[in-house]
Amino acid sequence: MALVEINNVHKSFGAVEVLKDVSLSVEEGEIVTIIGRSGSGKSTLLRCINALEPINSGRITIEGQQVAAGMRNLKELRQRVGIVFQAFNLFPHLKVERNITLAPTLTGRVSKREARALALECLTKVGLAEKIDAFPEQLSGGQQQRVAIARCLAMRPHLMLFDEVTSALDPELVGEVLKVMEDMARQGMTMILVTHEMNFARNVASKIVFMHQGRVWEEGPPSKLFTNPQTPELKAFIGSTRHN
Ligand SMILES: Nc1ncnc2c1ncn2[C@@H]1O[C@H](COP(=O)(O)OP(=O)(O)OP(=O)(O)O)[C@@H](O)[C@H]1O
Ligand SMILES: [Mg+2]
Repeated sequence: MALVEINNVHKSFGAVEVLKDVSLSVEEGEIVTIIGRSGSGKSTLLRCINALEPINSGRITIEGQQVAAGMRNLKELRQRVGIVFQAFNLFPHLKVERNITLAPTLTGRVSKREARALALECLTKVGLAEKIDAFPEQLSGGQQQRVAIARCLAMRPHLMLFDEVTSALDPELVGEVLKVMEDMARQGMTMILVTHEMNFARNVASKIVFMHQGRVWEEGPPSKLFTNPQTPELKAFIGSTRHN
């Protein structure tokens, strides 16, 4: 059984259908990269996977459990599925340690005594152990985004969703965040990510999904999709991103 199964999902905002019969499956340990033009439905799909948006029809299951907006196990689902956005949204008045341990202590996952060790463990994974006592404003954008990733890891997710996590960063800070994601991929984390970083997609993804007008237009391994696109839409998209 795949870790994530998306079957025939339709999603509308008002009269506008933004996901049109989307199906996709993600195996454990897979790195799936979603690419596509602005407005093609990439963020909406991620948000539906995490039940941040309800779907109109179809079915999404994670580890065999059906995802639904009002589901009973919503909290538990959100612990298994981490999501990181472009805006990292750290609490500015809390030190890095507390930003990371807030959710795990509130949910009773760890005791106050174990919390610092957990923060340290997660910060080490993103290469920022020495920043445990810093405030967010004392960190660069890239470092703040790495703390946001560490905060997700503290919930010990089985699946991570990343929505353009490097898009708001200065170009010289993008690499350090991509490297953290690459390390996570290598360690076997299942990930679905939306990115404009085509080199990252090419080198790290096990599967590329090209979305167009709310549909999965093409999907396959990077070797196939990038070198042999089947549709004029994907050809045009690859052409427009070639400068990356
Ligand atoms: N909360 C909302 N209410 C109404 N329409 C929305 C909402 N969120 C997204 N949309 C619309 O749904 C469509 C898909 O949006 P989505 O954000 O999923 O695209 P995207 O592929 O992530 O684009 P981008 O690359 O710009 O981030 C767009 O037409 C957008 O305007
Ligand atoms: Mg988006």
